[in-house]
Amino acid sequence: MSSIPDRNIGLELVRVTESAALAAAPWMGRNKKNDADKAAVDAMRLMLNSIEMDGVIVIGEGEKDKAPMLFNGERIGNSNTGREVPRTDLAVDPIDGTRPLALGLPNALAVVALAERGSMFFPGPIVYMDKLAVGPSAAGVIDLNAPVADNLNAIARANGKSVSDLVVVVLDRPRHEQLIAEIRATGARLKLITDGDVAPSIAACLPDTGVDVLMGAGGAPEAVISAAALKCLRGEIHARLYPRDEKEKRVAEEMGYDTNKVLTSSELVKSNNVFFAATGITGGDLLKGVQYFSGGATTESLAMRSESGTMRRIQAIHRSEKLAQILHDQKARLAERERAG
Ligand code: FBP
Repeated sequence: MSSIPDRNIGLELVRVTESAALAAAPWMGRNKKNDADKAAVDAMRLMLNSIEMDGVIVIGEGEKDKAPMLFNGERIGNSNTGREVPRTDLAVDPIDGTRPLALGLPNALAVVALAERGSMFFPGPIVYMDKLAVGPSAAGVIDLNAPVADNLNAIARANGKSVSDLVVVVLDRPRHEQLIAEIRATGARLKLITDGDVAPSIAACLPDTGVDVLMGAGGAPEAVISAAALKCLRGEIHARLYPRDEKEKRVAEEMGYDTNKVLTSSELVKSNNVFFAATGITGGDLLKGVQYFSGGATTESLAMRSESGTMRRIQAIHRSEKLAQILHDQKARLAERERAG
């Protein structure tokens, strides 16, 4: 990537997440997760292929629930330009929060992260990772191996608050029963969410979001995506592979994975040249969702770059002609798929 030092691919990535969000937004509340995912995946792939790069999808999505995906190992980008193009790794989640989108609930996002080739951790057969994510002031004090109370005390001290002022976000899942009890025992405030643990990891890095910590087991792809964002924002995430059962653990260990190792942001994404973009699909704490008006639609996105540490919040107006084109392309691709069986 050093050959084009001043290029901020993060800005190009915003077009990718905007496109996925605009393709997914019409499916809000229609209870068709797969159709929404298909629309977002197709739109994301189309836009990624317009970016001058030799990219490979390291973190695709869909393995967990067999949704349509940009598959792991897929080559992406426009590398036939006759010019030198950057060799990149990509982590994508066309819809983080397919369920909230399908149900018309908040906090569905389109996200993509990009870094130099060979720098992103691939979680292999493991679907979940245990996570602990915080913002810049607490970045040096967390330890996923330490008890919950020790971490929350250290984070509170680093943030200049008392533990009872902290807001800890946790996915509301039966697997978190013990974790939730331990957090409650410290007196910290708890925010249980139905889905989408990338947004709260980012929110922990930003002022005025009311979020201090994300804890608990969520998607392994989302851990790598969050690490990319947190490297840009100078926050920190610790993550450990979280096998669902003995068989998954054995398979991973046979493949050489250490299921006890705590990975830091810099082990999840090794490069210091990282780009990240996200666009809101349904509105939430972090980003507004896609909103329609008579002449088109508006989107709100984040674009970040680790080298500079700059985060941009980008509001865009998309004309109705462009939205019609997206819908037209979507229908054409669906028809093509049906013809191909
Ligand atoms: P997708 O919508 O991309 O499938 O992921 C939503 C999500 O809530 C993630 O943000 C989270 O990491 C993961 O699913 C949690 O998985 P599960 O719903 O199986 O507990």
